[in-house]
Amino acid sequence: MRVKIRKERNCYLAYFIDSRRVVEINEVGSIILNLLFNQEKDTKKIAEIIADNYQISLSQAKNDIAEFLTEIKAEVHPNGFNVIEQKQLEVPLGIELEITTSCNLCCKHCFQKHHDGAHMPTKKVIGIIGKLADCQVCEVSIIGGEPFKHEGLMEILEYCQSREMAVNLVTNATLIDKATIEKLANISRLVIIVSLDGTKEIHDYIRGKGVFSKVDFILKQLCAKNIAIEITCTLNSANLPIYREVIEYCESLGVPCNFNLFKPFKTEHEKLIPNPNIFFETIADLLRLRRDKEYKIGLSNAAIVTELLGLPSRNECRATRSGMVIDVNGRMITCPSLLAAGYYQKDELPFFDDNFMETWQNHEIFARFRKNGLQECQARSFIFNKDVHGYDPYGITAFREYWHNKKTE
Ligand SMILES: C[S@@+](CC[C@H](N)C(=O)[O-])C[C@H]1O[C@@H](n2cnc3c(N)ncnc32)[C@H](O)[C@@H]1O
Ligand code: SF4
Repeated sequence: MRVKIRKERNCYLAYFIDSRRVVEINEVGSIILNLLFNQEKDTKKIAEIIADNYQISLSQAKNDIAEFLTEIKAEVHPNGFNVIEQKQLEVPLGIELEITTSCNLCCKHCFQKHHDGAHMPTKKVIGIIGKLADCQVCEVSIIGGEPFKHEGLMEILEYCQSREMAVNLVTNATLIDKATIEKLANISRLVIIVSLDGTKEIHDYIRGKGVFSKVDFILKQLCAKNIAIEITCTLNSANLPIYREVIEYCESLGVPCNFNLFKPFKTEHEKLIPNPNIFFETIADLLRLRRDKEYKIGLSNAAIVTELLGLPSRNECRATRSGMVIDVNGRMITCPSLLAAGYYQKDELPFFDDNFMETWQNHEIFARFRKNGLQECQARSFIFNKDVHGYDPYGITAFREYWHNKKTE
């Protein structure tokens, strides 16, 4: 296992590249983790080095190291929270890069207005990823459109690998063939995130006839090759009644399933809008399944999840705090859903260039977004009220109202 260690203003961050967990540590912690994971020293040798560097006894150093490593182990647990993600970092931890808007499907729920076939040239993609890697960004999520429509995709993945970056590739999976699977199996630190919006009937209703069978076939092949896969399921009114079938299917493959919430952007989307109370009950049930059956379930609604688990409160969203999004035109985006909802004026968003860190930290668009707050989803507020400060029907305030009324009924 490799760990990327980077210095922030008041602390160090340790990013475990393979498990994608990140923890906040101090200087001594950074030395210990570096020696253990990157220089493969054993704990006896590390204790000697720490005792020597910090003028403490060997037994004290051994105890401190054991205690520190126990804490780290608990923090990097797969069901733990990447608490750091919601802190304001100096450099993004991960970025999302839209390499194409072209797509072979035309899903009922898709937020994209049209799949106009715009590609970011491979050279430009690699240039951007190179600059991000130089600045110690640890993780890249390749998004689209459908990334497999981009002919430079394998070159891009290989470049990410050469820069020791963790990569998420979000795909509908329908364009993956046998030869591609062989190539994907050779890329390290890659997780293929496959969209699955239901079992056969509902997935085909949303994504087109025959799509489920294709995806099912590919998923089984990817599993057989031990390629890391996760499922992402976007909850809407059509698939909310069958979310348990989706989890059972994922469990049968041994693949984690992450649930996100649909947002409407077009009039045709109205019939897919889920009932908020059913959505809240679904989150509670998913958490029960995760606890009682140890199902591998991820939930994107951090504020509600932490409230239900009785943990310290968290924001709904990490956008602009530890994450950054770059669209197919090379523009830096606060939140892609706000852009798709028509919140931003044309030409208002800055382009990625050598000054991207300064832009990300201080540009007025990013400063305003952070000032508006991330406790609820600004995109949902804007979509449902034409106001980013408006009531988010799926946010923590709405959840508390529902949950409180339910308890007092
Ligand atoms: C735009 S797609 C791009 C990658 C690929 N084409 C795919 O379908 O996985 C990325 C993710 O956004 C989700 N998505 C699309 N439209 C959405 C919407 N209106 N609200 C929430 N998520 C949406 C998709 O289901 C998919 O999981
Ligand atoms: S496959 Fe992805 S990008 Fe294409 S239409 Fe469906 S959700 Fe949109």
